[in-house]
Amino acid sequence: MKIFLDTADVTSILERFETGLIDGVTTNPSLIRKSGRDPEDVYRELAMAGIPDISMEVVEDMIGEGQRLSGEFPHVSTIKVPCTPEGLKACKVLSDNGVRVNVTLIFNAAQAILSAKAGATYVSPFIGRLDDNSVAGLEVIRSISEVFRVQNVKTQILAASIRDVYKVSRAFWNGAHVVTMPPKIFDGMYKHILTDKGLEIFDADYQATVSRVNKSAYQPPSSIRARVGSDLDSF
Ligand code: G3P
Repeated sequence: MKIFLDTADVTSILERFETGLIDGVTTNPSLIRKSGRDPEDVYRELAMAGIPDISMEVVEDMIGEGQRLSGEFPHVSTIKVPCTPEGLKACKVLSDNGVRVNVTLIFNAAQAILSAKAGATYVSPFIGRLDDNSVAGLEVIRSISEVFRVQNVKTQILAASIRDVYKVSRAFWNGAHVVTMPPKIFDGMYKHILTDKGLEIFDADYQATVSRVNKSAYQPPSSIRARVGSDLDSF
């Protein structure tokens, strides 16, 4: 059960990587464009910070670029290709050469099957975009998961296009191995109104106890003294 961050904002990633709960990062050309940065500077900084798995999307000359990036960023790179005939050709060549490949823009089980046959490490179904088009994204996760289970396929399901916290747990429940999410969704996973309310009460009670207790004036009651006897000093 892995959590990835879906952003190319290095500062935001590093803040959350410190929690020890982040297993990797996914980027795409739109996220890189939004960051306003050179993609390889982003990958380099993430690799230097110790992010173990970074999805790097290739657009042109997918095999050549995939080989170049996996040479440039060994161990941490996952090459991301689209689910097209060209993308899956690249997936096959790269995965045969030991490169991790993430096949993206997956919208049904048929695409996931082809990607698995091409040796993909990950398939990325886009939950939010399916929901936008009146197809239940979580059902697609479920059907891919069932096919992979029945056929004993090792390819992992990486749920992407996650827009709310609820979908994270439902994606895992439906069989996703990895969920990638924007940082604000990750932050939202900690939150519950009852946690905030409960904490407020515990904090107030703790403070009231601290101001009431006077440790130096403590004397055990006689009933305790009688039970412990001469061992009293060892407590
Ligand atoms: O990982 C894919 C993701 O970045 C797409 O998300 O919200 O643009 O559909 P969204």
